[in-house]
Amino acid sequence: MNSTLDISINKISNSRISQYDINDVPFGKCFSDHMFVAEYSDGEWNKASIMPYADVPLSYATSSLHYGQAIFEGMKAYKNDAGEVSLFRPFENINRMNKSAIRMAMPEIPVDFFMNALNELIRLDSSWVPSSEYGSLYIRPFLISTDEAIGVKISDTYKFIIITCPAGKYYSEPVKVLVETTYSRAVHGGVGFVKAAGNYGRSLYPTKLAQQKGYHQVIWTDSQTHEYFEESGTMNVMFVIGETLITPALIDTILDGVTRKSVLELARDWGVNVEERKVSIKEVFEAHENGTLKEVFGCGTAATIAQIISIGYNGKDYELTPIAERKFSNKVDETLRKIRKGKIEDKMNWMLKII
Ligand SMILES: Cc1ncc(COP(=O)(O)O)c(C=O)c1O
Repeated sequence: MNSTLDISINKISNSRISQYDINDVPFGKCFSDHMFVAEYSDGEWNKASIMPYADVPLSYATSSLHYGQAIFEGMKAYKNDAGEVSLFRPFENINRMNKSAIRMAMPEIPVDFFMNALNELIRLDSSWVPSSEYGSLYIRPFLISTDEAIGVKISDTYKFIIITCPAGKYYSEPVKVLVETTYSRAVHGGVGFVKAAGNYGRSLYPTKLAQQKGYHQVIWTDSQTHEYFEESGTMNVMFVIGETLITPALIDTILDGVTRKSVLELARDWGVNVEERKVSIKEVFEAHENGTLKEVFGCGTAATIAQIISIGYNGKDYELTPIAERKFSNKVDETLRKIRKGKIEDKMNWMLKII
């Protein structure tokens, strides 16, 4: 594998940044000036370049469009008050991307090569990193198969691309979720533990049905019994019952979230009792009934901590603890924000300074 590939850089002549208020843009719709593109063929990475963000010509026979050899990551860069830009735990995303690549029979991306690409791209577009309290630059690396061929087989050629977009708050209000007991996001032996594009495609119809009923998102349950919680939308899900933080243990239907991992590490550091195990719907509603269910929230890169304010199940909506009373998730949300924005010491060494 070629991990020291030179990147050719073709800078934009006129930045588009003045067309936007980067501290107030809708999520995922405004893209920064440059993108990184590398190609894979004959068993190695080649042609790495940074160029102005643009549409690219693509054959309608491109294999990823038909057979779904397509994976992605989601990570963020943050700007502190001194104007320095840092990435949050980038190696976690790089390693997960490579786990996804292996499962989808795609080439891995050498860690140094990936990191170098991020470094150069974010440096070049550092003015696109919002400085607002909730602002960040969302980074979307993705890998797609590019053989121009109809016929199900492992592609011989691929493109690895990184695009970025300024982001603010993902959810502007607490989230109402519906427990999904008909459809499944992931099955044992499948690809739920990786960020394969198809996982998201299959989630859209059940989510649409939930939204038609007035919910923002679904909480997925296990595909075999629909009795255990798995994830919610693009977030891992957590519960505080009594004094214990409980979250579904990682199995092959659940994504190993970087935010999940960070929340658990902070909780353990604070001496909070943490349990990673199966979490049943029955247990959670019993805790709600007897008054010990204190907090329910989702966590993920895009949303950070998304407070879940009500859960719909079997035709009934269960209203949860008011947000202001949620000690753990409010503290963890604030702590993560402050670490990312350089406002408190980064004891865990999570931030990697780029510029
Ligand atoms: C299905 C799913 N679960 C959980 C997460 C949260 O993962 P992370 O915290 O790494 O963003 C995501 C987002 O990447 C996701 O798509």
